[in-house]
Amino acid sequence: MARLTSPAPRLPRQSDTSPAAGEVFVTRQVHFSSSHRLYNRRFSRAWNEQEFGECANQRGHGHNYVLEVTVAGVPDPRTGYTLNLRTLKRLLEAEITVPCDHRHLNDDVPFLKGIVPTTENLAIAFWRRIAAKLKTGRLTQVRLYETPRNFADYFGP
Ligand code: NI
Repeated sequence: MARLTSPAPRLPRQSDTSPAAGEVFVTRQVHFSSSHRLYNRRFSRAWNEQEFGECANQRGHGHNYVLEVTVAGVPDPRTGYTLNLRTLKRLLEAEITVPCDHRHLNDDVPFLKGIVPTTENLAIAFWRRIAAKLKTGRLTQVRLYETPRNFADYFGP
């Protein structure tokens, strides 16, 4: 006699640590406080004051920056991690927080020398620095908040 019902579909077992085959995006957030001045030395003071207003003031001003870095990858079936967030935490401390926190971004941070430190330009510079050191996963997004309401996203390269 023929079977009238098909067998039940196989359900994921409890021991399947990564049942989904797709990528998972993980994000680490770090904070730092820095001063900066928006000023392009290739143009006149009048031009800079026109473009940047009080952000061009000679002594600079400060921000409490928030940086969010997102890495994508298929979780390792042994750990269930896209990457170990402890690794990303240490990378961001070494490459971003330690060099930038309580520094003047225009003058004190060698890898930012010569750029106008807008949120956009900082996001690009941070992407490049992080991408050069990231060994696991795929860097997909760098989001930098200059204030709670102003932020920039960079997706590479
Ligand atoms: Ni500013």
